[in-house]
Amino acid sequence: MGKIILTGDRPTGKLHLGHYVGSLRRRVQLQNAGDFDRMFVFMADVQALTDNADNPEKIRQNIVEVALDYLAAGLDPEKCTIFIQSQIPELSELTTYLMNLVTVSRLQRNPTVKTEIKMRNFEANIPVGFFCYPVSQAADIALFKSTTVPAGEDQEPMLEQTRELVRRFNSTYDNVLVEPEIMLPTNQASLRLPGTDGKAKMSKSLGNCIYLSDSADDVWQKVRSMYTDPDHLRVDDPGKIEGNTVFTYLDAFCTDDDFAQFWPDYANLDELKQHYMRGGLGDMKCKKFLNGIINRMLEPMRVRRHELEQDIPAIFDILQRGSEAAREVGARTMDEVRKAMRIDYFHDSQLIQQQSDKYRQK
Ligand code: TRP
Repeated sequence: MGKIILTGDRPTGKLHLGHYVGSLRRRVQLQNAGDFDRMFVFMADVQALTDNADNPEKIRQNIVEVALDYLAAGLDPEKCTIFIQSQIPELSELTTYLMNLVTVSRLQRNPTVKTEIKMRNFEANIPVGFFCYPVSQAADIALFKSTTVPAGEDQEPMLEQTRELVRRFNSTYDNVLVEPEIMLPTNQASLRLPGTDGKAKMSKSLGNCIYLSDSADDVWQKVRSMYTDPDHLRVDDPGKIEGNTVFTYLDAFCTDDDFAQFWPDYANLDELKQHYMRGGLGDMKCKKFLNGIINRMLEPMRVRRHELEQDIPAIFDILQRGSEAAREVGARTMDEVRKAMRIDYFHDSQLIQQQSDKYRQK
C-alpha cells in the first residue's frame, strides 16, 4: 500500500505563520519531494460550520483567501489535489456510519474538543455537529485511505480517534479503511507557535497573528511590538530566552544562512542566544533580524498572491476540478464501505438470488 497524504484547514480566516510552520511549509516540501502516491489538501468548510452555523458568509469569503494562501505558499494543483470538504457528499455518508462506532463518552474525552468548548463558551449549549466533528474528521481522513496527515500536535487526539474508528470499522465489517499516522512538525518551536503577544497559540480571535498575506509594513509593526522578556529593561541587562516570543520565532524560522546574510556577527542562533542571556544585546536588534527573516520568507508569497488575485475565476476552476477528482476517489471507497456494511443492495446479485430462494420456499 502506498503513501497517501491528506491534510486540511478550516477556512475561517486567512492563514498565518502558525499555519505555515505548523503544516503548510511541510506540505509544500512533501509535495515537491514527490514521495507519495497521492496528496490531498482541503478546506474543511463543513467543520468550520460546526461552530459558525450562523455565519456561513464568513466561511464563504474565506474559501478564496485560503486558496490564495495555499497557492501563494507553493501548493501546486498539478501535484496535489486541492478540494472543498462540502463538495464531497461521500464524507457526510461515511461520517454517519462512523458515528455508530463511537460513544458519547469517548468523544467527551477528546482534549482538543474540551479546550475548544471552553474557548467558545459552549459548555451548556454544545451544538451536536460541533461535538461530533472528530468523527467527521475521521471520515475526512479515512475516505481517502490517507496514511499520513501532516498537522500540528493539537490534531493528535483527532488522529487517535480516527485510528480507533478505522480499527473498529475494519473489525466489525471488513478490512476497507486504513489507519493513518500524524506527521508532526520536526522543529520543536513549530509545534505550537505562540501569538505575537506571547500568549497561547497564534489565533485570529486573539488578534495576535502575522498573516501570510500581511504587507512588509504590517509585519514590522507586529514584530516591533512583540512580547519579549519584561525584565530586560536596559540593553545591558541579561535577557531571558524562555518564553521570549522573538526567540521562539527565531527557533521556528531562522537558519544559519540567515546569519550569514543578515547578521554575520553571529554564526548561529546559539551564539545570539548566549549574547542575549549575557546581556548587552537589545531587543530591537533581534526584532529587526527576525523581521528580515520573516519578510524574506513572505515576499515571494506576496508576489505570487498578487498575480493569482488577478484571475479569481481560475482559482474557482482549480477548486472545482480538485473537488471532482477527490469525489471520484471518495466514491470508490464508499462502494467498498457499503459492500462491507452489507448495504450495497442493488449491486449484489447474490442477495437478490438468496431473497428469491427464501420466499420461493414458502
Ligand atoms: N481540524 C483541523 C483544523 O482545525 C482541520 C481538519 C479537518 C483536518 N479535517 C482534517 C486536518 C483532516 C487534517 C486532516 O485545522
